[in-house]
Amino acid sequence: MVSDNKTLDKVYTASNHTELMDAYKDWADNYDQDTVGSFGYVAPAAAAQALHRVLPGTGARILDAGCGTGQVGRILTEKGYGDLHALDYSEDMLRVAESKNIYGSLMQADLSKKLKIDDDAYDAVVCVGTLTYGHVDATAFDELIRVTRPDGHICFTIREGAYEDYGYRDRMIALEKADAWELVSMEEADYLKNENVTCKLCTYKVLADGAPNA
Ligand SMILES: C[S@@+](CC[C@H](N)C(=O)[O-])C[C@H]1O[C@@H](n2cnc3c(N)ncnc32)[C@H](O)[C@@H]1O
Repeated sequence: MVSDNKTLDKVYTASNHTELMDAYKDWADNYDQDTVGSFGYVAPAAAAQALHRVLPGTGARILDAGCGTGQVGRILTEKGYGDLHALDYSEDMLRVAESKNIYGSLMQADLSKKLKIDDDAYDAVVCVGTLTYGHVDATAFDELIRVTRPDGHICFTIREGAYEDYGYRDRMIALEKADAWELVSMEEADYLKNENVTCKLCTYKVLADGAPNA
């Protein structure tokens, strides 16, 4: 591992957005080496593959929500997708993502708030490693649905443990009951393989009346 334990502790113990963004500022430059190299972070590859299953055409306009340094975007690029857009709250992570030249646009925004993005703007949204402890809460699903066109897809991971504790499960079910989206697949998948941490890997299809009023 390149980073010291203090850097990682800051990410896991941050109690507000300012502390979390400060932690990512310290981590941004070593993030790829630590996650892929040391932790065996396989979630980006698994999510890109899950999205590829429902998006065979590579012309889709895709939002990478909580893009971090662009690991998901890089894998989607390798699969041939060329209309990728990035969003993250951390300017430091966005800076690293931008340096990879894979996104058509990058936006600094908070996924817990209303986004300055038009309704139905994307064919698909992918959100990996971001629906987790202390990062983005379950209300973010509503915005992800709003910016995805009807019949478009949303693919995301939720780290094991956070799924029920952070209210993600309840919100996902409420949105299904409200016909905002329908479940395409949910599987238990490796997340940090070398640390034996798993996640829920979920793909939803946004429904025509996808205005979430649940
Ligand atoms: C563990 S990283 C995952 C990054 C990337 N998707 C990946 O799989 O490598 C979590 C990302 O969520 C971002 N993040 C945390 N809170 C956020 C928020 N409220 N809105 C948008 N992004 C946020 C962080 O800045 C960080 O880049």
